[in-house]
Amino acid sequence: MKVLVVGGGGREHTIAWKLSKSPHVDTIYAAPGNAGIAGLGECVSVDAEDKKALLEFAQENEVDLTVVGPEAPLVSGIVDLFREEGLRIFGFDSKGALLEGSKVWAKQFMEKYDIPTGGFAVFDNHCAAQNAIEAGKPPFVIKADGLAAGKGVLICQTIEEARGAVETVMQKKQFGPAGDRLIFEEFLEGTELSVIAVFDGKDYRLLVPSQDHKRAFDGDKGPNTGGMGAYAPVPVLDHSLEEKIRIEIIERTLSGIQSEKIKGAGVVYFGLMLTSAGPRVLEYNCRFGDPETQVILPLLKTDLFEVLFEATESNLESVDFENSNEACTCVVIASGGYPGSYEKGKEITGIAEAEEAGCMVFHAGTKLENGRTVTSGGRVLGVTAMAPTLREATDKAYAGVDRISFEGCFSRRDIAWRALEK
Ligand code: AMP
Ligand code: GLY
Repeated sequence: MKVLVVGGGGREHTIAWKLSKSPHVDTIYAAPGNAGIAGLGECVSVDAEDKKALLEFAQENEVDLTVVGPEAPLVSGIVDLFREEGLRIFGFDSKGALLEGSKVWAKQFMEKYDIPTGGFAVFDNHCAAQNAIEAGKPPFVIKADGLAAGKGVLICQTIEEARGAVETVMQKKQFGPAGDRLIFEEFLEGTELSVIAVFDGKDYRLLVPSQDHKRAFDGDKGPNTGGMGAYAPVPVLDHSLEEKIRIEIIERTLSGIQSEKIKGAGVVYFGLMLTSAGPRVLEYNCRFGDPETQVILPLLKTDLFEVLFEATESNLESVDFENSNEACTCVVIASGGYPGSYEKGKEITGIAEAEEAGCMVFHAGTKLENGRTVTSGGRVLGVTAMAPTLREATDKAYAGVDRISFEGCFSRRDIAWRALEK
C-alpha cells in the first residue's frame, strides 16, 4: 500500500517511521517531509496546507491512505475534500477540526455535553473584554478563538498584562482573524496530562497517556513553546483516575462527536489539567500531539497502518490493539532563540552516534543541503529512547542528546522530572 503523510515535523517523522514497520506499507510519501523522513520514503515539495495539490498528488500516485499530521489542513477541510473525491484519509472533517480550530466552539461543545472544564466567558469586542479585566482579578487566562500556531494562550499575572494581551490580540490582531473573538478562562492549577485517542466514529482506543513540557527552560521557566520533551507513562495516572477520565471526559466527548455528526476517523487529543477537584479539559486538539507522538508511537505494539486503516473503515474493533508496558522519553533539541527568532542552516553532527547509543532521533526542523543535515526550524530533533523503566529511558535519551550538536543548540535537562522525583 502507498501512504501519504501530510506535514514535516517530529510528529510526522514518527508517524512515517511507525508506518514503515508495517508489512502492509510499501511506499511512504511525505509532503513536505524533512531530512529524517527522506530516509524512509519520498519527500514531495507540496505544502501541507495546499489541499488541492495534495489531492492531485494522491490521485496521480494512487495513494491508498493519507494521514494528516498538523491541524491547519484539517481545519481548512482536507478531509472533506478527499472524502468527496472518494479517497481514504485519516482525520476528522472541518466540523470536527473545530474542536481545535475554535476555542469558543470547543468550550460550547464541552458545556453542551457536560464535559468537565474550567469556567469561561466569550468576548467579541475589546471594550467588553477590557471591562471584564477591570472587574476580575489575576491570573487571567486569555485565549484567541482561532488557530495561532500554539501561541494564542496568554496567562497574565497582572491587570496591566491582561489589558496588553487584549490589545495585542483583538486590536493589533497579532494572530489575524484568530483574535476576532477571545475567551477568558478560569485559571486551573494542577498537573497537566495529554491523553490521545483514536476514534473511528463508533469505537476508540487510547495511546499511552503522556506528559509534555511546554516551557522553554528547566523548572518550567521561560516562555511557552510547542513542547520541549515528553514522557510516558505518567505515574500520577492510576487506574481509578483513568476510569474517571474515560467516563466523564473521553466517552462524553466521543458521543458528542457522534451527536454533532462529525465525519471521518481521527485523533482526539485531550489536554487535561488534573486539579484537586478532578480532571478538567484545558483544550482539545484534532491531531496527534508533538512531541507526545514521539513517545506514544514507539510504545504502541500494534501495526499503526492497521490502526489507521481500520479506523477509516469504522472497524477499530477488529484490531488487536496493544500498548507496551515499557517507558519512553523524548528530549527536544532546539535552535538557540526558540520560541523567539533563531538562525537556520546550522550543520548538525552526532545523529548516527546517538542512534548507536540506542536512541531514535526524530527530525523536526531539519533539511538536507548538499548532503549535509542542517537546521531549518525552532524545534530541530526529538531524541527518544525506550527502556523498561522511565529512569533508564530518560538516561538513555540524554546520552543521545549529549552526542548531538549544532551551533546554538539547547535542550531542557529535566524532562520527566515530575515522575522521576517520585
Ligand atoms: P493550550 O494551547 O490551550 O494547551 O495552552 C497552552 C498552555 O497554557 C497549557 O498547556 C497550560 O499550561 C496553559 N493553560 C491553558 N489553559 C489554562 C487554564 N485554564 N489554566 C491554567 N493554565 C492554562
Ligand atoms: N504538545 C502539544 C501539542 O501538540 O499541542
